[in-house]
Amino acid sequence: MGKGNQKNILITGGAGFIGSHVVRRFVENYQDYHIFNLDALTYAGNLENLKDIEDHNNYTFIKGDITNDDFLTNLFSENEFDGVIHLAAESHVDRSISDPLSFVKTNVLGTVNLLNQSVKMAKKNPDFRFYHVSTDEVYGALGDTGFFTESTPYSPNSPYSASKASSDHFVRAYGETYGLPFVVSNCSNNYGPNHFPEKLIPLFINNIINNKPLPVYGDGNYTRDWLYVKDHARAIDLVFHEGINGETYNIGGFNEWKNIDLVRLLCKLMDKKLGRKEGASEELIAFVKDRPGHDLRYAIDATKINKELGWSPSVTFEQGLELTIEWYFENKEWLEHVTSGDYKEYYKKQYQ
Ligand code: NAD
Ligand code: DAU
Repeated sequence: MGKGNQKNILITGGAGFIGSHVVRRFVENYQDYHIFNLDALTYAGNLENLKDIEDHNNYTFIKGDITNDDFLTNLFSENEFDGVIHLAAESHVDRSISDPLSFVKTNVLGTVNLLNQSVKMAKKNPDFRFYHVSTDEVYGALGDTGFFTESTPYSPNSPYSASKASSDHFVRAYGETYGLPFVVSNCSNNYGPNHFPEKLIPLFINNIINNKPLPVYGDGNYTRDWLYVKDHARAIDLVFHEGINGETYNIGGFNEWKNIDLVRLLCKLMDKKLGRKEGASEELIAFVKDRPGHDLRYAIDATKINKELGWSPSVTFEQGLELTIEWYFENKEWLEHVTSGDYKEYYKKQYQ
């Protein structure tokens, strides 16, 4: 492996929501790359996300856990990688509140395991680069005004964001201490096809279809900055290829929505799609107990990636939401598969 002009790229978490869009993009656009998708297939990992590309010659799936150091040592001694794009993580804030340790294990320990292997790989291969995909939640919460920039101090408020902040710090520390070539990006809330229905938008799409209550936390006046997942995958492609070593890039949608306004828009679009009378789905809205430590507002200033790498979102929120809703209607089987079994237990525990 790693011979001639072919580049071997290891993408972790490629069976998850964002990872699957990144894997597809790289497999389809870079015939001279071999893409290794390393994923433990937790509840959030799903090979159905990648059915359309699973037979491509330049793609290999590897089932494995980044918390298993022996496994990673073997993987890195058997293959020469030119780059690692690291997305594998526990990603849901609510789960981090009930089970913080899993987040420490995967997001901190797992990342440090990968960094240790990457330092050795970078010594053998001077073109090697480690790309850490992170979140805007590391910056904490904004008030009614202002934006997160790359120099905003870290102030994570949930076990999830604390674990991601910690992993970001380790990546930077490995750059300083061991000279590891790295880039980091911190992105706002993604939405789109293949999003697991524990997160706001796919959960509410699924509940509207099934005429179930829409559990809005608190008063619904929390703000998120939404980005279509394929625009994030395109940004990751750009940062991986053109980002400057040691730099961080904020990625966001320039698209802030209060949860309650977003939910009302979603209800309106879903009523149209389902042929229900306007206002029918809004009746499902139920204000429920708030999430502890709930961050009031996230908003990204994405000027740096826009100016330096020429990136900006390609779809409006309304277009992206229409595409997303369309995808869930065309992939009812996917939704049925991921909402059977363990999901039912999770839902009961979280919402009843
Ligand atoms: P996801 O939960 O949908 O997918 C995570 C993937 O990682 C799954 O396929 C899972 O099987 C895999 N995984 C988990 N633990 C693993 C382990 N120990 N070893 C190997 N694989 C493991 O997450 P996502 O929403 O696609 O997020 C991907 C990355 O992007 C995460 O690092 C997340 O912090 C970051 N991020 C997400 C968002 C968002 O809005 N979803 C925004 C910014 C950044
Ligand atoms: O900002 C980036 C982050 O966005 C990512 O790093 C995380 O991996 C991702 O999960 C997401 O975190 P959020 O906590 O913002 O996403 P979530 O979809 O869980 O919630 C969005 C908002 O909706 C938030 O204010 C909480 C609220 N919410 C969520 C759920 C699941 C509800 O009101 N009801 C719900 O049932």
